[in-house]
Amino acid sequence: MSFQTLFTKMEDHTLIITINRPEKLNALNQQVMQDLDAVFERVYKFPEIKSVVITGSGLKSFVAGADIKEFQALSKAEATALAKRGQDVFFKIEHSPKPVIACVNGFALGGGCELAMSCHFIIASDNALFGQPEVNLGIMVGYGGSQRLTQKLGKARAMELVITGNNINAEQALQYGLVNYVVPQTELLDKAFSLLAAAHNKAPLAIANSIKAVNAAWDESVNGFEVEANLFGDCFITADCKEGIQAFIEKRKPHFTGH
Ligand code: COA
Repeated sequence: MSFQTLFTKMEDHTLIITINRPEKLNALNQQVMQDLDAVFERVYKFPEIKSVVITGSGLKSFVAGADIKEFQALSKAEATALAKRGQDVFFKIEHSPKPVIACVNGFALGGGCELAMSCHFIIASDNALFGQPEVNLGIMVGYGGSQRLTQKLGKARAMELVITGNNINAEQALQYGLVNYVVPQTELLDKAFSLLAAAHNKAPLAIANSIKAVNAAWDESVNGFEVEANLFGDCFITADCKEGIQAFIEKRKPHFTGH
């Protein structure tokens, strides 16, 4: 797999995606968005990819936002289309059937914070900084940030961040429930791998259905409980369900095949 703005590497069935524009603090230009879209096409399709980690190149920044230089001279229609496109790419990440962890290794500002929030959860290094500073530019969040920040932090905290443009550090992000863990920068990937190792031993379809069910809690067009019951039922027509239950009864480890 080769992409203009991403460095990708497979390790123990985890695809590590590194956004690779360190000289611009990994700002999300349209090429990065296109590459993220394309790499997630493969994540959805390739069974050898069991999980994904997204991080930023260098020691200073995960992603310092959408590329501000591309905002110059945008018309209203072009800006709306840009936001919609960003939302679509992040929706694809959020709805990935394989677990996606953001390893935030520094600035996660603007679109960087929105990208991290579209992942299934976040591990932050102790130098991480989160924020939505768009109001400093006379604009606002546009890649789903107003919705996901409110889901994750609650209305009052989300309002404070988008209105003031103030940043929060890793410890505050942990306290707010935005991130699951804070670790030294050198331990970021190890922490992700230790969590993913547990997921890799589980049935892939059960994991995919679990992700769908949790995402349904935020989808007002469906009844999440009904979605959960149906997905639960779907598990029972899989070979992995038979294998998991049989293995428990026989007191052995299950061997899941993804069918
Ligand atoms: N878009 C485009 N370029 C960006 C960028 C962004 N969001 N964030 C950083 N860069 C570029 C800078 O323009 C600079 O490029 P240059 O060397 O060609 O001038 C380079 O990355 C390094 O950034 P710099 O500002 O020199 O680093 P710093 O350590 O002094 O400051 C930040 C770091 C993150 C505080 C600062 O870059 C910043 O405020 N960035 C914008 C954050 C933002 O508003 N994001 C939301 C955008 S909608």
